[in-house]
Amino acid sequence: MRLVVEGLHTYYGASHVLQGASLVVEPGEAVALLGRNGAGKTTLMRSIVGLTPARSGSVLVDGRDLRRAPPYRSARLGLAFVPSGRRVFSSLSVAENLEVARRSCPRRRGPWTLKRVYEVFPKLAEVRTRRAGHLSGGEQQMLKIGRALVTNPEMVLLDEPTEGLAPAVVEELGQWLGLLTRENLGILLAEQSAAFALAHTARGYLLEKGRMRFEGTMEEIWDSAELRSALGVAEHPNRTR
Ligand SMILES: Nc1ncnc2c1ncn2[C@@H]1O[C@H](COP(=O)(O)OP(=O)(O)OP(=O)(O)O)[C@@H](O)[C@H]1O
Ligand SMILES: [Mg+2]
Repeated sequence: MRLVVEGLHTYYGASHVLQGASLVVEPGEAVALLGRNGAGKTTLMRSIVGLTPARSGSVLVDGRDLRRAPPYRSARLGLAFVPSGRRVFSSLSVAENLEVARRSCPRRRGPWTLKRVYEVFPKLAEVRTRRAGHLSGGEQQMLKIGRALVTNPEMVLLDEPTEGLAPAVVEELGQWLGLLTRENLGILLAEQSAAFALAHTARGYLLEKGRMRFEGTMEEIWDSAELRSALGVAEHPNRTR
């Protein structure tokens, strides 16, 4: 799947949040969407999947414009959105959460079954009967990714997956992202934590006040003191990959 976003303008009431945002994610590519608090990262992802439709511009998924399509349409085409925070059905069990997600895209075929999700995330298998509301932050993140995977997506939009996670879980999350990339899934990773994005993507966009301020390789971002300062990071962290 190739995602091409062109000139999106999105409003919340009178507030003009996205002011012509554009980006491209090639099939199987992992791309970072960077930007400080309030830059519009979440709004851009919500506009891509139709949760907060853009007023103008285009969202092309393999050439089809989904800007005005309802969220289920992008999901059924293989574009999964993993929201930030504790967005799971808290009164349902882990297994029920996965089953509901799987049924939302009944026609999508692929390698991801509940069984395979449990194989890849054995910790999720251990808590499969537990209510999702009782999971730890890391387990909930795992469940949200599992819910995306059982729809057999071709591309995953991940909104701030590291938020609120302990460092050891962030490291695990990095391994899961590596797995998705090896399965040739495209990834768009929204992050305030630029160091995490640097380790797991090769290319990125810097969103500032609803516009793309910069697009380039991670090296270019880290080599520029001006861009680092726009991201609120002082130093070049060591590359971990
Ligand atoms: N539901 C909403 N109603 C009104 N304004 C909103 C709403 N959601 C977000 N905004 C505003 O839109 C702007 C962009 O917010 P958004 O959540 O997209 O940014 P973000 O880059 O995801 O930030 P963060 O890093 O904090 O998640 C901000 O000014 C925010 O206050
Ligand atoms: Mg956000």
